[in-house]
Amino acid sequence: MCGIVGYVGENNAKDIIIDGLKKLEYRGYDSSGIALNIGGKLVVRKCKGRISNLEEMIAGENLFATAGIGHTRWATHGAPSDLNAHPHTNGDNTIAVVHNGIIENFVELKEWLSRDYGVEFRSETDTEVIAHLIGIYYNGDLLDAVYKAVDKMRGAYALGVVCAAEPDKIVAVRKDSPLVVGLGNNCNFIASDIPALLKHVRSIYLIENNEVVLLTKNEVKLFNAERKPVHRDVFHVTWDADAAEKEGYDHFMIKEIHEQPKGLYETLHRRIGEDGIIRLDGITMTKEDIERFSKVYIVACGTAYHAGLVGKYIIEKLAKIPVEVDVASEFRYRDPFVDDKTLFIAISQSGETLDTLAALREAKRKGARVLSVVNVVGSSVARESDDMFYTWAGPEIAVASTKAYTTQLMCMYLIALYMGAGKGVLSRAEYDEYLKELGELPELLQKVLDQENKIHDIAKKLYKSQQVFFIGRGLDSSVAYEGSLKLKEISYTNSFAIAAGELKHGTIALIEQDTLVIALATQDFLFEKMLSNIQEVKARGAYVLGLAKENNREIERQSDQVIYIPECRDELTPILSVVPLQILAYYVAKLRGCDIDKPKNLAKSVTVE
Ligand code: AGP
Repeated sequence: MCGIVGYVGENNAKDIIIDGLKKLEYRGYDSSGIALNIGGKLVVRKCKGRISNLEEMIAGENLFATAGIGHTRWATHGAPSDLNAHPHTNGDNTIAVVHNGIIENFVELKEWLSRDYGVEFRSETDTEVIAHLIGIYYNGDLLDAVYKAVDKMRGAYALGVVCAAEPDKIVAVRKDSPLVVGLGNNCNFIASDIPALLKHVRSIYLIENNEVVLLTKNEVKLFNAERKPVHRDVFHVTWDADAAEKEGYDHFMIKEIHEQPKGLYETLHRRIGEDGIIRLDGITMTKEDIERFSKVYIVACGTAYHAGLVGKYIIEKLAKIPVEVDVASEFRYRDPFVDDKTLFIAISQSGETLDTLAALREAKRKGARVLSVVNVVGSSVARESDDMFYTWAGPEIAVASTKAYTTQLMCMYLIALYMGAGKGVLSRAEYDEYLKELGELPELLQKVLDQENKIHDIAKKLYKSQQVFFIGRGLDSSVAYEGSLKLKEISYTNSFAIAAGELKHGTIALIEQDTLVIALATQDFLFEKMLSNIQEVKARGAYVLGLAKENNREIERQSDQVIYIPECRDELTPILSVVPLQILAYYVAKLRGCDIDKPKNLAKSVTVE
């Protein structure tokens, strides 16, 4: 997904911007570029491919400037190409723009600019329209021109704009696409994401929708849509800059897999008071609010949706309230039954997933109370919710979500306990017992991580499989979906997950000699049923990798290989059982030589439809 970095100060803008763009590589991109103001002229360099291509392109050029903007693009309008890469400029190259998002009325604007102003377009992008718009409105005041241009635009955008005639300024705007400002000494920054700035600043302004920012090296001024000054409290980033680096691991994904005990610990322990009661900071629901809800919707995409599947099971069990789970791209277009007695829970690592955001807005419009479970502080989903619950997984860089998922599950348990206790349907003894067992999970998860070498060995045997089926029952089927997604997204293996009881209704036709079946059998009360399902696929020649709790050794008789997770109550297994599947997917992808942290065709944060 696109990334923005801008700098105005006294040092070499080119190096600072390129370094910042590299910190955003994890978002996925297909081209990159930079615009620098050198001696009153805008110098733009951009090209398709990796940032290293851009570096090669400008190597040897003297491009010293103290202000500039840079971009990594993920194609939406127009294929990845040198011409479509950002920044885009107006006709006489006096205005340069970088943009994240989509301008919905760009075709209309393009026609108008060509017809009335004779503008000739050089790219296929919607963004180029913005540069021309600002150009025609420019009359010696960049801020004014940007306001006028924004007035004409519909859609989602974070913009960084520079102007040849105002060499010491950047103007930035935000609408439905993330934007932050970094506050330095004799320098200031813009970025689409905080990690791009961590090397230089810790003090940040989180820019709100429809705000416009004017930056010089000594000053940052924020204005609202009515051009009135806005005050913003400084947000101090406490993350360690190293948290965004690989810390000796080969890939962010495996580093993040290993960070899960810490993420779980943080997400849980900071929320339990001395009296043993959960304090959900950011959640202001009263007992009366909870009692009023007649239904819960959990809506999300991808891995976050899979966390929602577990959430449904747990909330229904502990809080005794019906829960529906839906993928956001379906929910937003199907006129779901939502009213003011509905609790809508949005789950999102990035907090910027467009479908999730649109579903949230739809639910809000219909009167639902919106609670979000989000990892990125200050993200759009969090800001547009009535109540928010941060996952405290820390920055997740790998495209494949791992620690976000397990911390999302922890949040599901905490919300279920909070609601169950609030409604009075969960006894204090049960509540205490659940909390105690949740507290043990980080240690149990470490025991799963300690089996990494064994799982690596299993991956060596299985990595050539062309087709993999994940089966499970109850909570195991929810985890099967996540295990299958992990494997397919990073190793490009054709994998498929199905509730084990459904096999015989069609899918079993695909099982033949040596087909790999990964069978999750961690639910004690469904264990016998799972053994029967394993027998069914074994009878057709499948090679079975079983996953069970360590006391359920009988599975060894039915399976070719087995991975065990520590004993814990059935309801809590998903946090443990997903981890061997994450590790397996990681090593299969590694053995297949895949680009693990940046799988093809995927982006970390999907901010377009
Ligand atoms: C996870 O491995 C995926 N890359 C993807 O499914 C992701 O979970 C999904 O796009 C939702 O993202 P979000 O949590 O940032 O909303």
